[in-house]
Amino acid sequence: MTQPLYRSGLAGWLYASRCALPSAWAQRAVDDIVVKSIPRNASLEVTGALLFTGSRFVQFLEGPAESVVAIRQNILADRRHHDIVTFLSGGRAERIFSNWSLAYAGPSLFVADKIENLFHNGVHNTSEVIDLLEQFVIIAEANKP
Ligand SMILES: Cc1cc2nc3c(=O)[nH]c(=O)nc-3n(C[C@H](O)[C@H](O)[C@H](O)COP(=O)(O)O)c2cc1C
Repeated sequence: MTQPLYRSGLAGWLYASRCALPSAWAQRAVDDIVVKSIPRNASLEVTGALLFTGSRFVQFLEGPAESVVAIRQNILADRRHHDIVTFLSGGRAERIFSNWSLAYAGPSLFVADKIENLFHNGVHNTSEVIDLLEQFVIIAEANKP
């Protein structure tokens, strides 16, 4: 029997990390990560969002489980960041960022404070972080060229 597509192993990974790059270089490096990630994520049917506060990253990726695992391995080994903390990992019923290979809208002061709070207080409810990412997508949509 044919399985519905949305059940064919959709997975998600939400993490935060600390940027390891000197601040003078960080923005250019992040722009480079985004430019290279968009076609790579698209080719793996991965969608998601990346937040960068100037010192922290928060990223959510979703897609076929094997694609998310492959990108995750690369990201975990990437020396441009460290102190990687996973907030959410596992099966997803549906995509949140279906229109975005990697939503990114430059550094956002709006989310920076909220991310600092997450680091200091911990994540008690992952939907808080998903809400944050969804708000970020609204900003990304508004800033779309
Ligand atoms: C914060 C951060 C986010 C990243 N996000 C992605 C991503 O969404 N997709 C991706 O392919 N690579 C992403 N990368 C880059 C990967 O870590 C890695 O450099 C890339 O997959 C190339 O791997 P390779 O060295 O095997 O060619 C990210 C890196 C960092 C530091």
